[in-house]
Amino acid sequence: MYRTHTCGELRLIDAGKTVTLAGWVQRTRDLGGMTFVDLRDRFGITQLSFNTERDQALCDQANKMGREFVVQVIGVVKERESKNKNIPTGEIELVVTGLNVLNGAKTPPFTIEEETDGGDELRMKYRYLDLRRANVRKNFELRHRMAIEVRNYLSAQDFLEVETPVLIKSTPEGARDFVVPSRMNAGEFYALPQSPQTFKQLLMVAGFDRYFQIVKCFRDEDLRADRQPEFTQIDCEMAFVEREDILNTFEGLAKHLFKAILGKEFSEDFPRMSYDDAMRFYGCDKPDLRFGMKFHELNDLVQGVGFKVFDDAELVVGIKAEGCAGWSRKQTDALIDFVKRPQIGATGIVFLKWTEEGLKSTVDKFYTLEYLQKWAERFSMQQGDLLCIMAGGADKTRKQLNELRLHLGDLLGSRDPWTFKPLWVVDFPLLEKDEESGRWHAMHHPFTSPIPEHAHLLESDPGAVKANAYDLVINGTEIGGGSIRIHDRSMQEAMFRVLGFTDEDARYKFGFLMDAFEFGAPPHGGAAFGFDRWVSLFGGRSDIREFIAFPKNNAGRDVMIDAPSHIDDIQLKELGIVVKG
Ligand code: AMO
Repeated sequence: MYRTHTCGELRLIDAGKTVTLAGWVQRTRDLGGMTFVDLRDRFGITQLSFNTERDQALCDQANKMGREFVVQVIGVVKERESKNKNIPTGEIELVVTGLNVLNGAKTPPFTIEEETDGGDELRMKYRYLDLRRANVRKNFELRHRMAIEVRNYLSAQDFLEVETPVLIKSTPEGARDFVVPSRMNAGEFYALPQSPQTFKQLLMVAGFDRYFQIVKCFRDEDLRADRQPEFTQIDCEMAFVEREDILNTFEGLAKHLFKAILGKEFSEDFPRMSYDDAMRFYGCDKPDLRFGMKFHELNDLVQGVGFKVFDDAELVVGIKAEGCAGWSRKQTDALIDFVKRPQIGATGIVFLKWTEEGLKSTVDKFYTLEYLQKWAERFSMQQGDLLCIMAGGADKTRKQLNELRLHLGDLLGSRDPWTFKPLWVVDFPLLEKDEESGRWHAMHHPFTSPIPEHAHLLESDPGAVKANAYDLVINGTEIGGGSIRIHDRSMQEAMFRVLGFTDEDARYKFGFLMDAFEFGAPPHGGAAFGFDRWVSLFGGRSDIREFIAFPKNNAGRDVMIDAPSHIDDIQLKELGIVVKG
């Protein structure tokens, strides 16, 4: 037996027991005469003590151990003289009587402690060492607990967990596919699923009624803090449901997770906001409701006075930063620099502050006090507040003001990770037009149905059609989304036509689904939640890589195993892929 206890287990009550522990050497302190070693495993840290008077040879052996040596020790549990209140085992130590080095270790490239000196790339290259750090490991304990709670909740609601294939045909979710060449079918390729969308719909046709899966999805898209090329969804589908049933079921899941994982109770229903309102009042389809700063439009109060920037603008819109009227010129200039960055691309901000001296704007030469008072009124401004106003094309300006709003939220400390504001965003447009190609794209995916009142407009006025789709947004992050699906062949065919597919193309790509619709497809709908995002939200962090055991870097590489990598010519030939040169 390698051990009788873990390194996190022993307490004062165990004093006097002879035990065996195994783990990694966290650190060794040679105090001359006494040596203390912190022994670590997944469960905690136990202090080992060695004494030259008791056993010189054992003490010498302990002093020779480097960091991360793997050792087994036998000893007697003893009450500590100076106790450490910061760790659960801090009242005891193990007086070692036998030491067995199971394996040595090179000095690790960074310190295996909560505060490490390792940079991102180094930590990823030696991810197995990074994962030894207690704070990193906690992220996976959280992930595990959440997965169990998801399964408990959905299983109790009669959802069946079903695995769907990974080698499939393209499922459009708006990204590029990762493809896998088929050796047995030379020249042909599988696609890795961007989601199990079509399969879960087929499970509804199969009569499974309620399906879920915690499943890997693959998308070849540009990476960000909340995007990985392979990520995990809680994927769900239900038959014989309307939007309301779905929102209730998954609001239930969210509430269950809040309660079970964070001990947070949500007695109220999650608020709902239409996509149009989200864009109009927050400039984005996933508003962060932890703070106010709702947009107010000012066109009617600013135009026609001769200030060209506002006169020429399609939209003049602002937000109020409460209590910021006292900000220095340097601070407001920094806001202007922020919005002028190429990623945001705005031209500037007009400010209006209400200080003890009254209202003062940066465009005083164009607007009399009477005007400024009207602006202030629109924002219910109080003395001490600062207005930030931006102008330009409507869509662009809303997006830019959204960035400024979030930035101000950060500066003012209004985005506390432990405050949670969930929101359903509903009534998305079904389609959006790509300005360059002039083609319609499905905003969600092509299997989403229009709201029933708009179904007849699908081919005659596609831009006006609202989708029966919804997103769950928490603290400005899109945690999940879904829709009621099309379950009728002719409607699905019409959708593909609007998207510019020829009938032949639609049949080649999605004939299997449309055929299935002719064999008694029930009305159905569902949703999928980004599991990595949800875990990171509950972990109080925004980088999902911290919650993925072996993530890719921003270039899509796994720097630990060095993938992707070249494959040799023989393998390429076998796959029917022509080797050039
Ligand atoms: P959607 O494409 O909105 O919907 O994806 C669902 C959720 O998955 C998460 N997500 C990601 N997380 C990490 N990295 C990524 N690259 C990534 N892409 C998406 C998001 C998102 O809300 N089949 C539909 C769902 C449905 O209609 O039922 C779908 O996949 O949190």
